Amino acid sequence: MTNSCRICGAPIAPFMSFGEQPIANGFLPQSEFAREYFFEMAVCFCEACTMFQLLEQPAPEQMFHEHYAFFSGTSRLMTEHFRLFAEEVIANHLPKENPFVVEIGSNDGIMLQNFKAQGIRHLGIEPSANVAAVAREKGINTVSKFFSKETAKEIVAEHGHADAFLAANCMCHIPTFRSVVAGIAELLSDNGVAIFEDPYLGDVIENTSYDQIYDEHVFLFSLSSIRRAFSEYGLEVFDVAPQETHGGSMRFYIGRQGRRAPSTRVQELEAREDRIGLQHKGTYLKFKSNVEHSRSELVRVLKEFKAAGKRVVGYAATSKSTTILNYCKIGPELIDYISDTTPIKQGKFSPGMHIPVRAYEEFQRSHPEAALLFAYNHQKEIFAKEKEYHGQWILFVPEVHIR
Ligand code: SAH
Ligand code: TMP
Ligand code: ZN
Repeated sequence: MTNSCRICGAPIAPFMSFGEQPIANGFLPQSEFAREYFFEMAVCFCEACTMFQLLEQPAPEQMFHEHYAFFSGTSRLMTEHFRLFAEEVIANHLPKENPFVVEIGSNDGIMLQNFKAQGIRHLGIEPSANVAAVAREKGINTVSKFFSKETAKEIVAEHGHADAFLAANCMCHIPTFRSVVAGIAELLSDNGVAIFEDPYLGDVIENTSYDQIYDEHVFLFSLSSIRRAFSEYGLEVFDVAPQETHGGSMRFYIGRQGRRAPSTRVQELEAREDRIGLQHKGTYLKFKSNVEHSRSELVRVLKEFKAAGKRVVGYAATSKSTTILNYCKIGPELIDYISDTTPIKQGKFSPGMHIPVRAYEEFQRSHPEAALLFAYNHQKEIFAKEKEYHGQWILFVPEVHIR
């Protein structure tokens, strides 16, 4: 069977497999272990259009539904991040007269609440009904749908064209990406902008942060792949802004072709991608060997702690931790439990490896000798909060180390 690129249709083949993986956000009770869903997670680099993608992805309805476990508002840092994001959009990218903003993957309203607070017309498109309900309770206009070209047409018919299309950590989730781009082309006003941010492929390659690769992330974007995907629809990247969030993200600014001069940041990113070698297959083979090395180091460190009779726990049951645990085959024999602040994860088990997830208070109470920090992307916030913790921290990005 030959597989084809989700963007350009060229034939693609995986350069690496992460083995059988469960749904990354599928925290589950013991009663559901026997029915747990797994898929073979393999990654491809399309040499024709440079898009990095999963070969196979579970159906979106299997990941985004009324029991979706990820609530954006759990992080104070992200709440502040999205306040600043919204402020920038309002200051630089919206017309003064009756602007209209659409966000997809708006989750619990973490970004749109800032537009609502200023009385700006807004609409969130959020298929996971439970998180959408939280947004609605805050008074944020939200519909529970998957965004596509058809949804875009419905929005235009009902509300008119949008001045800004926004998305964070959502575009890279959508397998029918071409339909989303076509939808953006339909939705935007002539001078409208699409601004979205997602984990950045360049950071993943440079930091060996392979935990960014999980079921929901069907793509990891680069400037090169995004440019090509949008150019077909008369849209172009006119600016980019690297972000520290999620262990390294990129914000892309897109408008209709020829309307704005591309910024120098676009050229700089182009040069950086040339340096990393993001357009070359060899870069991905090197990445594969870095990932394998990272796995053996992490397992070695955990076994050493265990052999020394020290208790290791996981800190934060992130979706990203699912890839690490299942790829390295780390289970409750190496990690006693994972503490997490999200109530719906507590009392359940981690997907695939079935490590118990406990309330954060358990971490404070049990004084483990070591904590494997899965939420390394929130490390500033966490280290500031955990001054009282005197055990060791185990980190695995950019390489396995103890702090
Ligand atoms: N923007 C938030 C949430 C990111 S999680 C943040 O950055 O914290 C990704 C969200 O995208 C989920 O809430 C999921 O339900 C939503 N999503 C997935 N596919 C979508 C689609 N086709 N259209 C709109 N939202 C989608
Ligand atoms: P994320 O890395 O996908 O944003 O997920 C963050 C997860 O980490 C979420 O389940 C909440 C949890 N978490 C904690 O348990 N403690 C913390 O201090 C932070 C910042 C997050
Ligand atoms: Zn392609």
